[in-house]
Amino acid sequence: MKHKLNISHAISLKSVGKPELGYITVAEYQTDIPFDIKRVYWTYYTPNQVTRGHHAHKALQQCIFAVSGRIEFELINANGEKSHFVLDSPEKGLYIPPMHWRTIKFSHNAVLICLASEIYVEGDYIRDFDEFINFKSK
Ligand code: TYD
Repeated sequence: MKHKLNISHAISLKSVGKPELGYITVAEYQTDIPFDIKRVYWTYYTPNQVTRGHHAHKALQQCIFAVSGRIEFELINANGEKSHFVLDSPEKGLYIPPMHWRTIKFSHNAVLICLASEIYVEGDYIRDFDEFINFKSK
């Protein structure tokens, strides 16, 4: 898979199996994930009416999958351009480059798994939208 590293984009992985057996999907370094994975986290039980995210990252790259349920992303890049992604199948993913403001909605049964290029550093977050907008023009 070819990744454009400065542009958010959908990731489509293979799903191996059949209904009577079940399925396996694999995300492999280099072929599917364009960075060294330093951290993996997952989120779950987010109520339907809750919107999460509301932040951008200065350096972090992420590949995100909904291993269960449905997850909707609204992204705004450093130029203020919006994009919308729906993860509604375990083999569909999303690559998020640095400097993308995100808001995320979940179905209650959704499990989001994130493969991340860096360990957790709170200083990498921009949690204020005005700061994000101003940060891009520096
Ligand atoms: P955050 O990334 O702010 O998630 P959201 O924007 O969806 O609410 O993370 C929520 C909380 O979890 C925040 O207090 C930081 C903490 N956290 C960690 O301690 N380590 C991590 O790797 C992550 C992703 C979050």
